[in-house]
Amino acid sequence: MASEISLIQEAAHMRHGSNIGQPLTRREGVLKVTGQARYAADNHPHGMLHAVMAVSSIARGRVTFLDVRAAKDHPGVVEVMTPANRPALAEDPDAKTNPFMFRLDVLQNDEVRYANQPIAVVIAETLEAATEGAALLSPEYDALPPRIGLDAGESFVPQAVGVGNPSELRRGDVDAGLAAASKHVDATYETPAQYHNAMEPHAIVATWDGDALSIDTPSQGLALAQGRIAGLFGISPGKIHIRSPYLGGGFGSKGFMSGPQVLGILAARLVGKPVKLVLRREHMYGPVGHRAPTRQRLRIGADGSGRLTALAHHARTVSSSFDDFFEPAAGASHTLYASPAIATSHDAVRVDTGTPLFMRAPGEATGSIALESAIDEMAWACGMDPLAFRLRNYAEVEPISGKPFSSKALRECYAQGAERFGWSKRQPAPRQWRDEAGLLVGWGMGTATFPALMFQGEARAVVRSDGSGVMETGAHDMGQGAWTALAQIAADGLGLEPERLEFRSGTSDLPDAGIAGGSSHTATAGMAIHNAGAAVIAKLADLATGDERSPLFGAGNAGVVARAGRLFRRDDESRSESYADILGRAGLAEIDARGQGAADPAAQSTYAMHAHGAVFAEVKVDPDLGQIRVTRLVGAFAAGRVINPRLVRSQIFGGMIWGMSFALHEQAITDRRSGRILNANLAEYHVPVNADVPALEALMIDEHDRHVNALGIKGVGEIGITGSAGAVVNAVWHATGVRVRRFPIRIDDLVTAAASG
Ligand code: MOS
Repeated sequence: MASEISLIQEAAHMRHGSNIGQPLTRREGVLKVTGQARYAADNHPHGMLHAVMAVSSIARGRVTFLDVRAAKDHPGVVEVMTPANRPALAEDPDAKTNPFMFRLDVLQNDEVRYANQPIAVVIAETLEAATEGAALLSPEYDALPPRIGLDAGESFVPQAVGVGNPSELRRGDVDAGLAAASKHVDATYETPAQYHNAMEPHAIVATWDGDALSIDTPSQGLALAQGRIAGLFGISPGKIHIRSPYLGGGFGSKGFMSGPQVLGILAARLVGKPVKLVLRREHMYGPVGHRAPTRQRLRIGADGSGRLTALAHHARTVSSSFDDFFEPAAGASHTLYASPAIATSHDAVRVDTGTPLFMRAPGEATGSIALESAIDEMAWACGMDPLAFRLRNYAEVEPISGKPFSSKALRECYAQGAERFGWSKRQPAPRQWRDEAGLLVGWGMGTATFPALMFQGEARAVVRSDGSGVMETGAHDMGQGAWTALAQIAADGLGLEPERLEFRSGTSDLPDAGIAGGSSHTATAGMAIHNAGAAVIAKLADLATGDERSPLFGAGNAGVVARAGRLFRRDDESRSESYADILGRAGLAEIDARGQGAADPAAQSTYAMHAHGAVFAEVKVDPDLGQIRVTRLVGAFAAGRVINPRLVRSQIFGGMIWGMSFALHEQAITDRRSGRILNANLAEYHVPVNADVPALEALMIDEHDRHVNALGIKGVGEIGITGSAGAVVNAVWHATGVRVRRFPIRIDDLVTAAASG
């Protein structure tokens, strides 16, 4: 019944215009730009104290001494929390019962496992006193030589990569395919460690009231966080209230509860007062995750007509000495290009760094910069235009599985992106073009791909007797605009004008909207909302169509349409009744219903589900100085239904800038002697600034996907990085004739090559 109603609603929206598809501005936009939005660290409950972490300056060993007395003697310092006095936890912070957990460093002992690991927390009346107290601890260590880098130790094959994906997959005979090829590419690419660097650092304000806990902290997964805290502190989830109304970015690093957040809760317990703990920028280079470095070898064969005969993609990555997140870099080769033989594999080494974690397009970002480079190299080896080569090897079914795609408008992305960019005017050979100022000009392209995922979420919808409605789901707005898009879905789902709808989100007492990750949030929470709305409308329809006093009597549940707070007879729209009248006659103050959002297992086992795109880049390179400027970036993306084109464009732009950043800017550099990150700050860890970002264009290609979910949503949070990074590095090759395979590309790579060439 409910699904019939939802289809009818969709049809009604097609006729009358819906909220879905409208370019609304962010609901909280004015609050944010006027400084009224209250982020976690803006909370100051009465009596609150400030906590500051002391972090390790070694990467491996033991803390042998902390001058706790000096810290405590400092005016304003209230307490110093160390392994000696840290309140007990109900659960071992090193226990891991599922892959959606992060092993934590919360002062469980004196061991140091990475640089910037928390080793003590100073709690004081002011931030300044806590900061000074932390500096006075003057730790001493027994240090061991750190294991750093992709060759730090014996490699091994992880049991799984990413969150539970197989570390090896193969289809067909790669050796035979390579042997049969007339053209070969065998190249190795390296990507660096990167850090999420959300503008808002991880922060927490924690208040205990007996065994009840109230928290302000940014979270991409409220229910996960609530469950994690419940386990660690041995209290029921219902005793924990988390508020996470605004996040200044997350990018994966706020997906799981991190050690510092738990330390804030422990500090509040220790002193019996509310405590605020905010990470300093350098504290974010260790305990809250990062993108692991990779070394990827691609072996590709092609025949005389430029068709792939084999594709082998091996990725080495690292994880920490104590946890198990492995960047799934080789997975990018599963979906993009038709090859009769594909093999992907991973191995890893253990290093003395904080545990890596998913970071915006985990696997696809690292993997696709290597794959798109190698494909570009093969196109050149085959004497083909890079776009023609990609079209020659266009995958009509998902190469690794043989499944049909639920939808795939990549061909249209290629065509429209190329047209917009002017790709047909490209000259094939590298280092042939100069602009009027004498700069080398290069054009490159890359294909974008990201899976269309869903987690599980729930929403609760209410219609009240005054004709207004409520939609509740504990969704996470990291700045991507999730609440705006979800409220649009909610208004349509309830058949209400947006101003009659109260949208409640961002707290842990609401239904679990699922984790905001994997580009899945709009689809997951959106489907929960859509289904909750449909269920309430079905109840209203039952009330009306079963009551002979209603003008809708006898229409049948499926014979009505919900719109603007009224139900209409489908066959005669002059006959309608308002929600208020239906509830009033039934003597009900309100009705409510819940809805679930989750992937359909039958559709998933039948179809491969991915978003796609094509990105075209122009760079200009100074032939003497090697300075690289991206001057144009044009992307065309197909990601199913667009809920809000303004926000989608913003997400895609953000991703494209991340891609450019991957190619040219970002790199965390670790000192091999100390294991310390040398550029743990936003001055020396380079990200693009406005002057680096060229004219961006993002085209959204229409795509109607009946299989991903009833709303046809695929997600846009991560795909923009993929393709963009490869497009930029391929453009640098085309400009200079220098193929750089270690990213980011640096001035010295080009200058050295020019000097030696
Ligand atoms: Mo994203 S890396 O799934 O927050």
